Amino acid sequence: MVEYEIVLSEEQIKKRVKELGGKISREYAQKNLIVVGILNGAFIFLSDLVRSITVEHRIDFIRVSSYGRNKESSGIIRLIKDTELDVEGKDVLLVEDIVDTGNTLSWLRTHFAEKGVSSLKICAFINKNERRAQRVDVDYYGFEVEKGFLVGYGLDYGERYRNLPDLCELKT
Ligand code: IMP
Ligand code: MG
Repeated sequence: MVEYEIVLSEEQIKKRVKELGGKISREYAQKNLIVVGILNGAFIFLSDLVRSITVEHRIDFIRVSSYGRNKESSGIIRLIKDTELDVEGKDVLLVEDIVDTGNTLSWLRTHFAEKGVSSLKICAFINKNERRAQRVDVDYYGFEVEKGFLVGYGLDYGERYRNLPDLCELKT
């Protein structure tokens, strides 16, 4: 029985992440950049992305939960771990694995606005449109995917599959 099918290969991902890093480096040349990864899903994407960002920056992490164990977002966001660097007056780039309903990122936009950041942009590995409930401007994204439940390259199902080097669609 096939558990998952490859949607994007490791090579395709690598190439695209390099392009994103280049674009971000050009746009943040004169800025005070703090890259904030959203745990846990963004840890692999972030680690590749920052290695292709050539401008000086700092890295921090935030953790929120909206999911629990199933494939549907509960819509209720809980802050589990806040950032530790002082982001006031800084240019924050939020790095997310996948934007689905948009609930997480619209909550985080408000959260960072309240901290008085100078600018806030979003970089998502995957922009998934099927279930968007809140309008969010995704400033940079790796790939657009219409639908399906995706795993690999950091994305999980019940904390499994994060280690797959390709992006896959879960079939079970
Ligand atoms: P949103 O709040 O609905 O936009 O959901 C964002 C979060 O849901 C992401 O950070 C993921 O952790 C999770 N998520 C949404 N779609 C998928 C998927 O296809 N695979 C794995 N996780 C997903
Ligand atoms: Mg996530």
